[in-house]
Amino acid sequence: MVTATVLKPTKFQPLEVVDAKTLDEAAENLLKRGWTRLTCPTMPQRFERVISAFVPLTEDPNRDEYKIDARREFADGQSELGLLETTRGKLKSKPRPDEIAEGRVREDETKYKFQFNNRLPGYYSRKGLIERHVSFFSEVAQLHGEALLLGLEVAEKLDQEMPNYGFLERMFTGEHGAMTRLLRYMCDGEQPGIAQRHRDRDFLTIHVRSDRPGLWLADKNDVIVPDACETRTNSVLMFFGRKAWEITHGKIRGIVHGVTDTTFKDKLRFPRHTIVTFLHAAVSAEEDAWGKTHVHELNLLPHVDKYGL
Ligand SMILES: [Fe+2]
Repeated sequence: MVTATVLKPTKFQPLEVVDAKTLDEAAENLLKRGWTRLTCPTMPQRFERVISAFVPLTEDPNRDEYKIDARREFADGQSELGLLETTRGKLKSKPRPDEIAEGRVREDETKYKFQFNNRLPGYYSRKGLIERHVSFFSEVAQLHGEALLLGLEVAEKLDQEMPNYGFLERMFTGEHGAMTRLLRYMCDGEQPGIAQRHRDRDFLTIHVRSDRPGLWLADKNDVIVPDACETRTNSVLMFFGRKAWEITHGKIRGIVHGVTDTTFKDKLRFPRHTIVTFLHAAVSAEEDAWGKTHVHELNLLPHVDKYGL
């Protein structure tokens, strides 16, 4: 009789990355590990079209017109929206308290970002900026809608597993709803690290796809997953952010992750493109206060803190 040896994952022996086939499996994985992959062909296959339409926007000689002072325009504390350009090593203009606490006050990498939510098309339309990049806006709006629907479906499953938190309801009542971020990292710096380890600020992140590998994460049990397989074309990666931790008073932890450019050692480097959707959820004043008094519980173990550096 053959007996299989079941290897238990340790901090140094990563789990194999397996795609969940159903929403139930995805919710189960999320609660067990803090992250999952989920079979979902539509969004990863839309990736090429969105990015092919995004690159010309970053190269538009008049691209400054697509930059928005969101704090003035929307005046509700919304993250910056529209096109953003950042230069490696530059001090962030207004680092958030969590970025200061985690020592992330400088820009990681020279990159272009585009941040889209449902309020953005109205702003651009008033300024007559849609028609110059109409295929881009059409593609990104469809992708954003698909990600939002998937997030709502997953939240419904999470509510079935953890019934007392009302995750789905909170996604409707949250101030900022959902935001999709497109990234074009130029990958021409002197270090391979292009995104320092961090936790996302949202409730649930859908990492739609990247065109190059390099994304690592530490799961709920601090096991490092060195390759999150983010270039797959048939599935998406999902993981919890800090709001999940606040809402559940620590029963769920936001997942630490970072990006190291795998082309660095080849000396022939390429830009890296990524699409991520951040799904927010309403956090009460009491939960927010709980988070502030328990923030020390998010201290990283040394093997996670130093990973990728
Ligand atoms: Fe992130």
